[in-house]
Amino acid sequence: MSTLMLLLELLLLTAAWQCGRSEETERVRVRVRVRVRGKGREVNWKPQVPSQRSLWSSKRYEGSSEFVKLRYHMGPVLSSPINIYLIWYGKWPQSEKLLIKDFLLSISSTPAPSPSVADWWRTVSLYTDQTGANISRSVSIAGEYADLQYSHGTHLTRLSVQEVIATAVQAKPFPVDHRNGIYLVLSSQDVTMEDFCRAVCGFHYFTFPSKVGYTLPYAWVGNSGKQCPEVCAYPFAVPGYMGGGGPGHLDPPNADVGVDGMVSVIAHELAELSSNPLVNAWYAGEDPTAPTEIGDLCEGLYGSGGGGGYIGNVMKDGRGRTFNLNGRNRRRFLVQWIWSPVLKACAGPNAID
Ligand SMILES: *[C@@H]1O[C@H](CO)[C@@H](O)[C@H](O)[C@H]1NC(C)=O
Repeated sequence: MSTLMLLLELLLLTAAWQCGRSEETERVRVRVRVRVRGKGREVNWKPQVPSQRSLWSSKRYEGSSEFVKLRYHMGPVLSSPINIYLIWYGKWPQSEKLLIKDFLLSISSTPAPSPSVADWWRTVSLYTDQTGANISRSVSIAGEYADLQYSHGTHLTRLSVQEVIATAVQAKPFPVDHRNGIYLVLSSQDVTMEDFCRAVCGFHYFTFPSKVGYTLPYAWVGNSGKQCPEVCAYPFAVPGYMGGGGPGHLDPPNADVGVDGMVSVIAHELAELSSNPLVNAWYAGEDPTAPTEIGDLCEGLYGSGGGGGYIGNVMKDGRGRTFNLNGRNRRRFLVQWIWSPVLKACAGPNAID
């Protein structure tokens, strides 16, 4: 029995123990989890809406490390200054590009009030490789490429994303940076992706030399604004069945449901890409084709006390917009927490004691 199966067994047992919920509902949750984890080779993330929420982010789970066997598998982490190469796939309004770039540029220490995006990345930088080198705290945008012509169509697949990257690195002056580069493919809201909305909101992996000529760590994240905001931009949109009597949606910090939702998915993928770029460094579970990584462990959790469908204690600005982090240019963002190897719990800079 793999550790992953053992974890699921434990989850089932704990689920059955939790009061106020039928066993059947919990089984559905676990089944959904298995499906998501089992799909494809890439490392997927699908934030789960409350009715499907597993115990991964419950308060009990948050406070306890006994089920988490996050281990280091001796591979590299991104310990040198990280160069992000952005590939804007499809038509992207300038304002949305600026919003995403402001988030990425807020990761390196920039003047922003606490709790800041740079404070949030501090948890990620606690991960080290076998030489003791920490994940870098320096993250910059080293290049951008706009694929306005949808070079590989308006429907992408897990493999054609690699061709999108190949097209970008072949288009000079977009460089091949296999030392410090990570490639981030962001698709516009009219682009569909294999399994988007059903199984994934984003994923990361590395390119195959046969496709791209190099092994490059990359991530893909799509704008779910038109296709499935209730799945991939939760909690800025909520499923219809939760409409009556439910908590309702929260207002996004930059008034853009799709892109504000993407920011947390991008954050999740960057954290995992940095700690597991070749899928042989930091993850839980015995199966490297379905690893549980440092973002997965805290999905749906944005503040203290979160879990069981509650995102946790976050802040609201004067206009009622929800956020938990400050960034450059007085931007605000709502970003999920990350598993801390020191605290052995999900952690974020907006924690309240
Ligand atoms: C590097 O990681 C270790 C172990 O998590 C941590 O104790 C240390 O503070 C980190 N150093 C820096 C510079 O972040």
